[in-house]
Amino acid sequence: MPVYRAPRGTRDLLPDERPVWERLETLARDLARRYGYASMETPLFEQSDVFERGIGASTDVVEKELFRVSPSRGEDTERWALRPEATAGIVRAYVQHGLQTWPQPVRVSLLGPMFRYDRPQAGRFRQFWQWDIEAIGDPGPAVDAEIIELGHRFYREAGLPDVDVLVNSIGDPACRPAYHDAVRAHFAPHADRLAGVERERLATNPLRLLDSKDPDIADLIATAPDIADHLCAACADHFAAVRAHLTVLGVPHRRERGLVRGLDYYTRTAFEYYLPGAEGQQSALGGGGRYDGLVELLGGKPTPGIGFALGLDRVVLALADAGVALPAPAHPAVVVVGADPADTATRLRIATELRAAGLVARADLATRKLGRQLEGAARDGAHLAVIVGDELDLGQVQVRDLPAGTQRLVNLPDLARELTRAHAGHRHGTDAAR
Ligand code: HAM
Repeated sequence: MPVYRAPRGTRDLLPDERPVWERLETLARDLARRYGYASMETPLFEQSDVFERGIGASTDVVEKELFRVSPSRGEDTERWALRPEATAGIVRAYVQHGLQTWPQPVRVSLLGPMFRYDRPQAGRFRQFWQWDIEAIGDPGPAVDAEIIELGHRFYREAGLPDVDVLVNSIGDPACRPAYHDAVRAHFAPHADRLAGVERERLATNPLRLLDSKDPDIADLIATAPDIADHLCAACADHFAAVRAHLTVLGVPHRRERGLVRGLDYYTRTAFEYYLPGAEGQQSALGGGGRYDGLVELLGGKPTPGIGFALGLDRVVLALADAGVALPAPAHPAVVVVGADPADTATRLRIATELRAAGLVARADLATRKLGRQLEGAARDGAHLAVIVGDELDLGQVQVRDLPAGTQRLVNLPDLARELTRAHAGHRHGTDAAR
């Protein structure tokens, strides 16, 4: 038999790992609700053109990392790709469904898997999860700060209080071409020191050279022209106002001149979140920025937008590294066991009734002796065992408090209410003991 494995760069999240993910998902959804960002979903795949046009054909994400999807039947000529990020799909949906007629900005939140065919390494997966936030239809600068603060709050509430917030402005179509020229002029005399792909970028996408991690050109990057000296007045004012708003909100942040982002749709505000000391290692916990040209690029009317995506896989890793206590898998409150090993039907019927009443209950479905069933309940960390025995003829069962070792008879019609009350007290007791 062949040995099957999850594809390289993907992972199974087993039940003992899921509680921390669920906590982050709940936090993200709760923050989105508190800030007024409505949940939405887009397909996991789109016409590849949406990404090629939206993200940019000469970005790593499109050039090297796009998961192209081909249908098994040949007659379909559409070209599709798995989504490498959420923004392009959300903007495609905004245009397709005429969301520009809604009250602006349209604030949305999306949490789900993204796919990039990258070389897998620590914190870099081929399937990973992003929490994505977008505000489409507001030119800022205040909404830029709202969003940057929201990301910062997510990390704080998740248990990472010291995340660094790096910000920059990468200008707009009015001022960026001249900056591109300045960067090209700076690197061109040293083109022989550039690796093949970097030399191509010099022509197609010179900003990308500025966040190259190639140590051989670190000196060239350090002496490259600073975009702050090339912003037009409108972009410079916008950026100053974003920073002023962040200061009012008490978000500590730092300008990073090398922060240029890896996707082509960005204009003006760009930002990234890092663990302290981890900057420059291509290990951002999250990032985002403004994309004032993207709606138009995907067929809509000129409409500004801004958003972020936070990488949840990296947050889970960072929480584990920081030793933050992770939530434990939930224990069943109640296990239904019985003196007659063969009578699985009665045990299952009682558990089903308790579940219908809202309790977390399971029945022991193995035909094993009562002692073994009780051991199994204790091993599961259950609080209460319902023991089905001869008293059933009188409409009663025994309820045992497993940690306390106490036991009493309960009438079946009262069972769900009694268990709910007993377990509520137990939960409060254990919460208080923590
Ligand atoms: P991005 O910087 O490409 O931006 O990705 C955002 C975050 O997703 C990264 O900071 C990282 O935490 C996580 N991430 C990216 N690739 C991987 C990977 N291969 N494995 C694990 N985590 C990864 C965007 O995706 C933009 N759509 C953000 C945005 C929204 N801009 C405006 N709106």
